[in-house]
Amino acid sequence: MKLRTTLAAAALVTGSLGAQAQYNSLWIPDTLSGTTFNLYMKDTFVQFLTGNQTITAGINGAFWGPTLIFQKGDTVHMNVHNNLNDSTTLHWHGMHLPAVMDGGPHQIIPPGTEWQPYWKVTNTASTFWYHPHLNMETEAQIASGLGGFIIVRDSEESALTLPRTYGVDDIPLVLTSRSFDASNAFTTFSPYGDYMLTNGTMNAKTSLPKQYVRFRILNAELERGYNLGFSDNRTFYIIGTDGGLVDAPVAVTRVKILPGERTEFAVSFAGDAEGDSLDLMAYNSGLEFGFPGSEPSTSGAFGSLLNNTNFKVLHIYVSAATSGAVSSLPTTLTTNTYLTAADATVSRTLKVTDGVPGEGIGFRFDSTDFIMDTINKYVQLNTVEKWSVTNSNVFGHSFHIHDIQFKIISRSSGTIPSYEDGWKDTYYLHVNETVSFVTRFNDYADPLHPFMYHCHMAPHEDGGLMGQFVVDSATTGVAKTTESAPDLTLYPNPAKGTVFVSTSMQAYYITITNAVGHTMLMLPRPNLMKGIDVRNFAPGTYYLTFTDDKTKQSYTRQFVKYADL
Ligand code: C2O
Ligand code: CU
Repeated sequence: MKLRTTLAAAALVTGSLGAQAQYNSLWIPDTLSGTTFNLYMKDTFVQFLTGNQTITAGINGAFWGPTLIFQKGDTVHMNVHNNLNDSTTLHWHGMHLPAVMDGGPHQIIPPGTEWQPYWKVTNTASTFWYHPHLNMETEAQIASGLGGFIIVRDSEESALTLPRTYGVDDIPLVLTSRSFDASNAFTTFSPYGDYMLTNGTMNAKTSLPKQYVRFRILNAELERGYNLGFSDNRTFYIIGTDGGLVDAPVAVTRVKILPGERTEFAVSFAGDAEGDSLDLMAYNSGLEFGFPGSEPSTSGAFGSLLNNTNFKVLHIYVSAATSGAVSSLPTTLTTNTYLTAADATVSRTLKVTDGVPGEGIGFRFDSTDFIMDTINKYVQLNTVEKWSVTNSNVFGHSFHIHDIQFKIISRSSGTIPSYEDGWKDTYYLHVNETVSFVTRFNDYADPLHPFMYHCHMAPHEDGGLMGQFVVDSATTGVAKTTESAPDLTLYPNPAKGTVFVSTSMQAYYITITNAVGHTMLMLPRPNLMKGIDVRNFAPGTYYLTFTDDKTKQSYTRQFVKYADL
């Protein structure tokens, strides 16, 4: 991965401080595709400013990770290596998958451990992302640079005449901002950064061809929202929301996007002259009370040089059209069939409340603390539910729920903006607003592993604005029977390259620890036929803990890894 160009700190602040902008070329994350993905999370550093490097963390890189390209229908296998000095998790935001593969706060990966979730991609073509989700440490780990895009492709989207050449006319943009202290370290626990980082690039510029260009925007901020538009107020066309294409392109000049949300739009540069330039801007000045980043302060706990200002997200130079340029957009993209309120057989309400009543300190759902081993909601598999989330406190929030995509059916503040009239997993919950959505909880029941719902502003999530639900079915209940002497043997033992598990039980989970209790490998629902690859293990004694799918009882067996001759 390329390091960002060094530049003088004084040149970083454009506009308000009058300094001349020095642009740096926009970094585009590498892509990984296929069905096996090797991800290495590690502590590292980036030269953001002159002087000291900034300590960061990255996935296969130095700040932010590769873009994973999935094909709908494929089963994808993830080999997640935690080479950080801390425990972590890796969550696949927006993906519909079994809870045990979800990478939420319960699927902790200790340092030095490999986690191997896998699932069948059933989401339709859209833009998703992955990021750590460790309880109370999500802000710190996302702030350090851990995360990446997921692009799902499918045959329906591929058949449309849309820009689709990654990095050429299909541009992923991850929006975030950071502040630095005197020694160039990221300022910890500052929700609003002073400097815009677009794909991790400060003062980003890029050349884009004279034709329709697609942007896949992700707000990966800790807290700030963006009110995006172009510097000449040109019209652009929303083609997709969090979870898929909209029925038809939606013409807009502004789109608001809060932490965790994605939006895909197409914009035409065909009418621009080669060499012209314009800016993708955040029009964040003068926004409504409660919009994150509308605070007037430039310093202090919620201060930032970018607060309540209009600032550049990307400086664009128009270049020659490419061959195969898209010159017009399809008028129909897809035909979505949405659930309606009438389909729902269960209705739930959730209220965002103050953690300390009346004082606006900390936020809660229904005045209830988030506790890792308390399940807040039980959902029956295949049920269509209507959730109504009310915000009765002093600040806006970004509501997100795992496992499913939903359709917003009402906003008490007024109408549903046309740019969010599609499949969503995250939305802006304004002050004094109730938002209702409808969804179906299908496919994956698991009484043991919950899914999360929370505010996607990391400080709020870490502070306790989070809850959890399990999806259960009549047939997945945990049986109370205990097998006293289950058939469970490991062979060959001692083993060299592969350990096989012989049992009549089905595996729910396998964990392998070494002789001093350090977790080496975590395998949700492993395929026992393939055996377990222990080639990279040092010679020695190991313990394999097997959790039975039916009873959820765990059994431990010892095996020895031979030295290779
Ligand atoms: Cu993007 Cu619960 O997460
Ligand atoms: Cu919040």
